[in-house]
Amino acid sequence: MIKNIVTIGGSSSKNSINKILAEYAGGLLKNAKLTKVDLNDFDIPLFSVDVEFEKGYSKGVLNLNEIIENADGFIISLAEHNGAYSTAFKNAYDWLSRIEGKVWRNKPMLLLSTSPGIRGGKSVLEIALGKFPYMGANIVGSMSFPLFDENFKEGKIVNSDLKENLLNLVDEFENAL
Ligand SMILES: Cc1cc2nc3c(=O)[nH]c(=O)nc-3n(C[C@H](O)[C@H](O)[C@H](O)COP(=O)(O)O)c2cc1C
Repeated sequence: MIKNIVTIGGSSSKNSINKILAEYAGGLLKNAKLTKVDLNDFDIPLFSVDVEFEKGYSKGVLNLNEIIENADGFIISLAEHNGAYSTAFKNAYDWLSRIEGKVWRNKPMLLLSTSPGIRGGKSVLEIALGKFPYMGANIVGSMSFPLFDENFKEGKIVNSDLKENLLNLVDEFENAL
């Protein structure tokens, strides 16, 4: 059966390299339909308990929650800002956690990060690896992808070790679906 895989770029950059990487990894799946989440497409106010109390959930938050509810699995790539989640991702995540504490619903997840730097977002990846499981994540594989601009060119991974790593992870992810 064809699986519905939600890819998320954990960033609000128009040309997010994390969105590119998540969608690239999704494209390696053999039997999947991708639902590609760009956080810019969702109207999500800055989280505050006051806004939540006064206005409730925005359409954007409810739509994103429904996309997650309907997913068979997730491929997420997190941008790293000052060693942590991007504001856009954390904001959406905080809202989502108010609707359903187990945001990730125990569905298989391939968790990635990338940056132009040598660590490839390893710090934010470590945060998420430590904390996502408390929010219902079933992380079946993870990888930080370093030096994005050198290792990913014209829509492809040009470093053979990184490519092999990712292909293996995508296989494991597909087997877990
Ligand atoms: C405010 C800010 C903080 C950043 N902090 C980090 C960092 O801690 N580690 C890192 O590797 N890159 C950092 N970067 C560079 C990002 O990795 C880079 O902008 C990358 O393109 C973000 O991913 P995106 O294209 O998916 O948004 C930072 C960028 C910004 C704008």
